[in-house]
Amino acid sequence: MDKKKRPFSEKTSRAPVSQRPQSFEKTAKGALGATVKVIIDDIELHVPMGTTILEAAKSINVNIPTLCQHDDLCLAGVCRVCIVEVEDQKTLQASCAYPITVPIKVKTYSPKVRRGRRNIIQLLLRNHYGECYSCSKNNNCELQSLAKEYGVKSYTFGHIEEPRYEQDNSSYSVERDMNKCVLCRRCVRTCIDLQEVGVLEAVEKGAETRIATYLDKPLNDVICINCGQCINRCPTGALKAKDPAEEVWAAIDDPAKHVIIQTAPSPRAAIGEEFGLAPGTSVTKQLNTALRRMGFDKVFDTNFTADLTIMEEGTELLLKLRDVLVNKKKIALPQFTSCSPGWVKYIEHFYPDKLGHVSTAKSPQQMFGAIVKTWYAEREGIDPADIVSVSLMPCSAKKFECERPEMDDSGFKDVDFALTTRELAGMIKECGMDLPNLPKSEFDNPLGTGTGAALIFGTTGGVMEAAIRTVYEIVTGEEVPFNKLRVTPVRGTEGIREAALPVKKAKKEWKFLEGVTLKVMVGHGTANAKKIMDMLCRGELSGYHFIEIMACPGGCLGGGGQPIPTSPEIREARAKAIYKEEEGLPYRKSHENPFIKLIYKEFLKEGPCGDLSHKLLHTKYTPRGKWIGKKKVAKRLIAV
Ligand code: SF4
Ligand code: SF4
Ligand code: SF4
Ligand code: FES
Repeated sequence: MDKKKRPFSEKTSRAPVSQRPQSFEKTAKGALGATVKVIIDDIELHVPMGTTILEAAKSINVNIPTLCQHDDLCLAGVCRVCIVEVEDQKTLQASCAYPITVPIKVKTYSPKVRRGRRNIIQLLLRNHYGECYSCSKNNNCELQSLAKEYGVKSYTFGHIEEPRYEQDNSSYSVERDMNKCVLCRRCVRTCIDLQEVGVLEAVEKGAETRIATYLDKPLNDVICINCGQCINRCPTGALKAKDPAEEVWAAIDDPAKHVIIQTAPSPRAAIGEEFGLAPGTSVTKQLNTALRRMGFDKVFDTNFTADLTIMEEGTELLLKLRDVLVNKKKIALPQFTSCSPGWVKYIEHFYPDKLGHVSTAKSPQQMFGAIVKTWYAEREGIDPADIVSVSLMPCSAKKFECERPEMDDSGFKDVDFALTTRELAGMIKECGMDLPNLPKSEFDNPLGTGTGAALIFGTTGGVMEAAIRTVYEIVTGEEVPFNKLRVTPVRGTEGIREAALPVKKAKKEWKFLEGVTLKVMVGHGTANAKKIMDMLCRGELSGYHFIEIMACPGGCLGGGGQPIPTSPEIREARAKAIYKEEEGLPYRKSHENPFIKLIYKEFLKEGPCGDLSHKLLHTKYTPRGKWIGKKKVAKRLIAV
């Protein structure tokens, strides 16, 4: 794994020392003494000093099994599944944690290695309680695959017969069943290093070790931001998202209900992976067909309200700039985006005094819900009480967002159920549909037309790019000065990126912006959000106007509800698919969407940020701080 691609810095890791990377700097390629000879299973190769045995083996396609190792995370070296035999060493060595600094000979599948691995897997299974057929990870479980690969047919070291821990189903987003946990600590490293939230930790010692929240509080009562990144990296079914599939089926089967679904762009670029397609194969139109065949009454596109978000959020920014520059008001700038519910909960917990910087615009999911139960219901003559509004999202935090008490401005719950990409794939499989080979079909209107600007919301930098395309054109009357509308400075995978856009000439209404250089910033993953927030607290962002933050690495396409596995390469492939699809769309700027023009003409008549928009499409936030609830859960059921 190229460390540069990791969406966090090892130098700033808050992980306990035992869980920090045992890094050994590789010498620059080509320098004297830079490479070292290694013989792996009789294959000779030369690798840069400090390369681990695991990395060296991968480079020649020798597969060594792993469990605690993950390409996104620092090294842990705790599971020992990756053991190999190194000549002249008495004990078997963990290949993921063994940097090659002198010439060595390695055997990756000697009898001693195979026996050792089988014993390790048996030891993991001894304390593992769960039935594969009823497990969310059945057929996509690393523990299950290892047991199969190593021919585990019986429990050599015994097997517990009863669950040891209560399940924690307190959260609207993430469920924990520690009976299936193998203590690999990927979730701990994800939460601490990747997301810099830190609600999970390995506690106690030896056979008593377990992964716990602070004082064993329910997940809903600690400062979890519901991002689900821990689920994406858990090798077993110990962590999963709360699945509303049964409730959605019940609504579909109820003839009195009008069930609509909105689908977000990043699940469409990833759901194919659940059906064997390569990452980055978009199946948007086949998915439309699948959803209709499943029984949804209408299939809509979240991109419609992503465009609406740009209109509302962009206008909010321009009005703030006018208040600051013309009316000399004190307004909290820069403005931060608000479409990532993980990020919103993060700032509510960690920087509650900075909530004034967050745009009040609801996320596209929630705007959609509010519009469906008002404008759409009215146009179609349907009682909103009979509408069941479902969303397909890449994100486990969207489930929590649906349950926020303030999300009922339509007079009803804006969005009833949020399904993740994995959950919808399960429902499609239940119907026996072969998604990749279904015929293609279009979205329904009036809520089924989105622009390319909305489509790129699915990737980090996308919201900013969409906003720039619209805001710049509204202010200057001209297109953004980038070839093919590609606002390249905000694209990419660097954790924090920025762009400066001088406004040389402005239209009459926006003359006060003439000569101003719009400065924007983009960050993804809450570890990077923390860096940006700390800059804000130190007063280093005073010249900036707009900042996009997405809670998940890579943005929504790396969300906690997306297909597993995840890696930097997989996320890059999904991003490519999104950028490719957007360039083929007839409209690529939010303000050009004909149905956006229609909704402002027909329904939101005062225009963006008007009274009705404020009522339906904007929201408020809760300064939560780091308050921890009083309840206790995850009690031991039986003694270890
Ligand atoms: S975690 Fe894996 S091995 Fe355990 S029950 Fe689930 S699928 Fe089976
Ligand atoms: S959902 Fe996110 S914040 Fe919550 S425990 Fe998992 S990684 Fe940590
Ligand atoms: S919950 Fe999952 S990721 Fe966390 S330690 Fe257990 S098995 Fe590993
Ligand atoms: S994968 Fe190497 S110790 Fe776990």
